[in-house]
Amino acid sequence: MKRLFISLLLLIPVMTFAGCSDGNDGPQTNLPETPGNPGNDNDDNDNSGTVTPGNGKILIAYFSRWGNTNYSADVDASTGASIIVDKGTHRGTTEVVARYIQTAVGGDLHLIETSDPYPTEFDDVRDQNHAEQAAGTLPELKNYIENIDQYDIVFIGYPNWALDVPQAIRSFLSSYDLSSKTVVPFCTNDGYGAGRTYNSVREEATGANILEGIAIEASNVPSAESQVQNWLERIGIEREDPQGASIRITAGGHTFTGEWLDTPLANEIRGMFPLTATLGRYGGREYYGSMPQRPTHTEEGQLRFENGDITYCPSNNTIAIFYAKADDPDMGQLTMRIIPIGKVTSDLAPFNEMDSRLEFTFDN
Ligand SMILES: Cc1cc2nc3c(=O)[nH]c(=O)nc-3n(C[C@H](O)[C@H](O)[C@H](O)COP(=O)(O)O)c2cc1C
Repeated sequence: MKRLFISLLLLIPVMTFAGCSDGNDGPQTNLPETPGNPGNDNDDNDNSGTVTPGNGKILIAYFSRWGNTNYSADVDASTGASIIVDKGTHRGTTEVVARYIQTAVGGDLHLIETSDPYPTEFDDVRDQNHAEQAAGTLPELKNYIENIDQYDIVFIGYPNWALDVPQAIRSFLSSYDLSSKTVVPFCTNDGYGAGRTYNSVREEATGANILEGIAIEASNVPSAESQVQNWLERIGIEREDPQGASIRITAGGHTFTGEWLDTPLANEIRGMFPLTATLGRYGGREYYGSMPQRPTHTEEGQLRFENGDITYCPSNNTIAIFYAKADDPDMGQLTMRIIPIGKVTSDLAPFNEMDSRLEFTFDN
């Protein structure tokens, strides 16, 4: 079915996406690139930028229809609903590329989510997008990254929507001062390449150093990992600096390895190693429990987490290990602020199988 959807896309003029039957809307009037030659970007992208030296910390922010649509639980990935099933897990097409980037160079993933989900039916999303692009609407976003300052490199990923970025990308980029950062666009599409999206990213990320982007046709995404790696090498993005010292965590007969951050709070807690605490499972996403003593350093903290994060919560003096559900619309959002102090870098799967309450030891 998706094949059919894609084939139809190639036959149907871009008006179908743009929904601009009256032809009056400026943003939709440019011709798309030749469908027979997808993946070549028709924006001029001079690739003159270089990566700014810094701490090398990378953010990979992306928008996908999956994660922004209330699909029913039994949604069929073959219906053209922009979903890839990867080892039993549903993922957006752009999300899959985001994960290739993370595997290659590290970095924190961030799903750009609008407060109001998009409709499930393609025609309805197309019409809503058309209206939003024509009016320049900036849809409200669900999450705000409080500590954007820590990132030097911001990847920004999106599907080509009517040859341009979904308006949520404009909402995201215009929410932050990215002028001192390197911004790298990546795009998935059904045959029309990047359209004018790189120019739109340049418009919104005022003053940022914009590197050459990549546009990958959705049907090629499942086999595009090496293409992504080659592109990252070509534009000179290296694996982000290790953020700190190596640590080991033992619990329930398992040993996990990870990195400890080099911050005053993390270093203070590392000074308590070997640190033993009884942690309990919560919400299918984390183990948490009381610290043996309260550290004196603190930070403002954040309301989001990445899978693998080891965090300290000052409000209730607890340490936690998040192992799942960072992208879950319900469980991915926190109500109490946490401060990252480290990251488990080994396989997180054993956390799903361990007893729901047990002793964890953190050590060097
Ligand atoms: C509203 C809408 C408009 C689209 N417009 C285009 C387009 O103009 N050109 C194109 O090649 N693909 C277009 N597509 C297809 C998506 O770009 C493509 O399927 C993408 O890989 C989906 O990524 P996602 O799964 O991360 O949302 C459009 C899809 C939607 C929903």
